[in-house]
Amino acid sequence: MIVLDGKVAAAATKDQLKEEVDAIIRAGRPAPHLAAILVGNNGASETYVASKVKQCAEIGFQSTLIRLDADVSEEHLLEKIESLNNDPSVDGILVQLPLPKQVNEQKVIEAIDPAKDVDGFHPASAGKLVQGLPTFIPATPYGIMLMLEHFNLETKGKHAVVIGRSNIVGRPMSILLSSNNRFGNCTVTICHSHTHNLKEICLQADILVAALGKPEFVKADMVKEGAIVIDVGITRVEDNTAKKGFRIKGDVAYNEVAPKTAAITPVPGGVGLMTIAGLLKNTLQAYKQRRG
Ligand SMILES: NC(=O)c1ccc[n+]([C@@H]2O[C@H](COP(=O)([O-])OP(=O)(O)OC[C@H]3O[C@@H](n4cnc5c(N)ncnc54)[C@H](OP(=O)(O)O)[C@@H]3O)[C@@H](O)[C@H]2O)c1
Repeated sequence: MIVLDGKVAAAATKDQLKEEVDAIIRAGRPAPHLAAILVGNNGASETYVASKVKQCAEIGFQSTLIRLDADVSEEHLLEKIESLNNDPSVDGILVQLPLPKQVNEQKVIEAIDPAKDVDGFHPASAGKLVQGLPTFIPATPYGIMLMLEHFNLETKGKHAVVIGRSNIVGRPMSILLSSNNRFGNCTVTICHSHTHNLKEICLQADILVAALGKPEFVKADMVKEGAIVIDVGITRVEDNTAKKGFRIKGDVAYNEVAPKTAAITPVPGGVGLMTIAGLLKNTLQAYKQRRG
């Protein structure tokens, strides 16, 4: 069994990116610039954004963090996005989700200039992905594809089962795995909360992607011997014995599932780290497209 270590795969991607950024800077050009908007002070969102900003610095990107109060109006947030759209020094814009209730998330996603949509959530980006056109791929499924590539895991002709159909993970994941390219060409089944016989379907999976947000939902009796298991789930589960008062749990019961698999991602230390790698790659792509 191989542990698909996100640290190793993400470091490889980031080393490549850093080399490119170093060359850009040596040529006397400005560094790629990511602007992140964080609304409120949700603990998990704070952690994700801090990590994104830190990793930007590590590879030589410029980053700007814009903090807005939890009670910000939708109008003010949309104005902020518009000013970043119009700022020629900004290559990529991300708005950390989830957003507070008074803000319509879809409106926010659609307000971002598709040329700066490094999260890949804009319908223009999603449409291009469906049609197999070059675009910004949502960072988490992109990161998973980078991981499959890094560990050179064969996907062609395999049956991939994706649990979850969200616009940010499950659905784009199913499209990427079924695409006609080197780490695609799977036969894909996408499952959701109305799926009947989920266990039987999972047992047919050569590649199982769990992205439902239910801690330790996937048990050993749902996994075929020798499968590749990708655990996307990140849930904070209260635990008084932990320093922070919680532990991060994936969607897969790792200890019982891992021995059955050919390869598995740990949580933490798996897909989460690849997500940031995907975002950084998108940001460099946006820079190149905008600035040549
Ligand atoms: N590692 C990372 O970087 C990263 C990035 C993004 C998200 N995540 C994590 O990934 C998980 C999923 O995120 P998300 O944003 O995609 O969540 P989401 O929007 O809540 O979507 C969850 C999906 O799972 C399906 N589902 C829920 N319960 C199910 C069940 N019992 N059986 C089958 N399907 C079920 C839902 O079905 P319906 O459509 O029918 O409701 C939905 O399609 C969360 O834990 C999130 O924190 C991790």
